[in-house]
Amino acid sequence: MRNSEIAISVQNVTKFYGKLKALDDVNFEVRRGDFFAFLGPNGAGKTTTINVITGLSNYRAGQVEVFGHNTIIEYPQSRRLLGLCAQEFNFDPFVTLHQLLVYQAGYFGIRPGAAAKRADELLERFQLTEKRNVKHRALSGGMKKRLLICRALIHDPEILILDEPTAGCDLELKFLIWDYLTQLNKEGKTIFLTTHYMEEAERLCRTIGIINHGRIVRIGNKQEVLKDKSLEAVFLEVTGTHEGGNIK
Ligand SMILES: Nc1ncnc2c1ncn2[C@@H]1O[C@H](COP(=O)(O)OP(=O)(O)O)[C@@H](O)[C@H]1O
Ligand SMILES: [Mg+2]
Repeated sequence: MRNSEIAISVQNVTKFYGKLKALDDVNFEVRRGDFFAFLGPNGAGKTTTINVITGLSNYRAGQVEVFGHNTIIEYPQSRRLLGLCAQEFNFDPFVTLHQLLVYQAGYFGIRPGAAAKRADELLERFQLTEKRNVKHRALSGGMKKRLLICRALIHDPEILILDEPTAGCDLELKFLIWDYLTQLNKEGKTIFLTTHYMEEAERLCRTIGIINHGRIVRIGNKQEVLKDKSLEAVFLEVTGTHEGGNIK
């Protein structure tokens, strides 16, 4: 019997890159409809965790399930339930925004007619309709960020995963992205994001997991986690690593 209330389940996952233990017996669950922040300094293992959940990385021990689907044995079923917004822009340079979204939908078996309609709806929602027929290099940085979110949503996944969605963003763009994510969560999407900004986790999320050196330090309800004084050392390390200094 699949547990439909657990969106993501990471069980005893250990991963090495050569001799480096990037994930050390990582365990956590994300409930359906949650807004979950995975907070940790650079190099903590956040992106590696995302790669493990989305099936981009293998791992030595443990298992990962997305709504009960094992991400290795049932890769297509689990991947279909996830929309991934990676940290870097990795768009095909030769196609227009609209084509790019339609092609992405094709990976999930969505027919071109339905995909074209959904692409137009998303472009409208993320204020990119005007750029529908240009290639992504003609976009500003903020537009590219919005396009990343559109692409992650093209197959209407249950879960949206974002890797440091506001790193390097100016305040205006950061607030815009926060608004979009809050709205998507209200509409029922489960959201899992990584961040090294304490404030982002605090403002947006319901649940916070702290990772450091590949180990889960603490996980729980936001208020509970933020009350925990023993975390100050990690928080200091976390805030000490943010590059932009643009958090007020
Ligand atoms: N492809 C890779 N090959 C070797 N080491 C890697 C690779 N990807 C990440 N690492 C290392 O694994 C650790 C965790 O990295 P990562 O998950 O990217 O951290 P974060 O996203 O929290 O900044 C770091 O020490 C990083 O240098
Ligand atoms: Mg990372």
